[in-house]
Amino acid sequence: MTSQDFIIIAIDGGAASGKSTTARALSEKYKLLHVDTGSHYRALTQALLNAGLESASESQVQNYLSKLNLDVDIEKRTAHIVLNDKRLNYSELRSPKINETVSYFAAMPSVRSYLLNYQRNQAHIAKEHNFSGLIMEGRDIGSVIFPSATLRLFFYADEATRASRRQKDGEQDAIAQRDKLDSQRKAAPLTCPEGAIQVDTSSKSIDEVIQAMSILIEDALKNAVHP
Ligand code: C5P
Repeated sequence: MTSQDFIIIAIDGGAASGKSTTARALSEKYKLLHVDTGSHYRALTQALLNAGLESASESQVQNYLSKLNLDVDIEKRTAHIVLNDKRLNYSELRSPKINETVSYFAAMPSVRSYLLNYQRNQAHIAKEHNFSGLIMEGRDIGSVIFPSATLRLFFYADEATRASRRQKDGEQDAIAQRDKLDSQRKAAPLTCPEGAIQVDTSSKSIDEVIQAMSILIEDALKNAVHP
């Protein structure tokens, strides 16, 4: 990779489809900044719950967001969201209460537009910190945030595989319910973006998925047009 080859890899997919494990490994392999946008929605959800806004109207939520301060903390290859100087740790972000309520807030257009520029700006942050690129995972990365990404991937797995992955994580998480809410919402629903490469992770080991993605990344790099 030469210094001018800044790449953006978008990975979308439902809960427990294998996005995070793959994105983390690829971020190491290709020196990419890893951004998990699910953690952005999760952190906002916790802030809204803390502010007593669980049943608030969208305009109350919007009013709260307008006073919130957003920042980023880069640790090794991962960018973490910081809200009002507070960064939540992994287990705080994956509490049963957040799992239960995050899709409700994520369906609000004002919440999504609040995060849009922040998420797009992660590419500039990655460049400033001399990463070779950005790998961002979520539900609308290839469709809304970076529709012109170098590579757009859509991960999926059968329901039994996804349920057993969550069980192994020891998490209380109604993933089918979350996916339903995420797919049916009007604003940036969970869907395979047109032209994205579909990746079935059901019967593949993590190493097999990484190997297959590495071939795609290296192909994309070879075919990229550099000025
Ligand atoms: O990826 P994760 O399961 O942590 O995402 C938590 C929730 O955040 C999703 O169920 C979805 O409601 C929301 N989300 C979203 N758009 C993204 C990433 C996550 O709506 N790009």
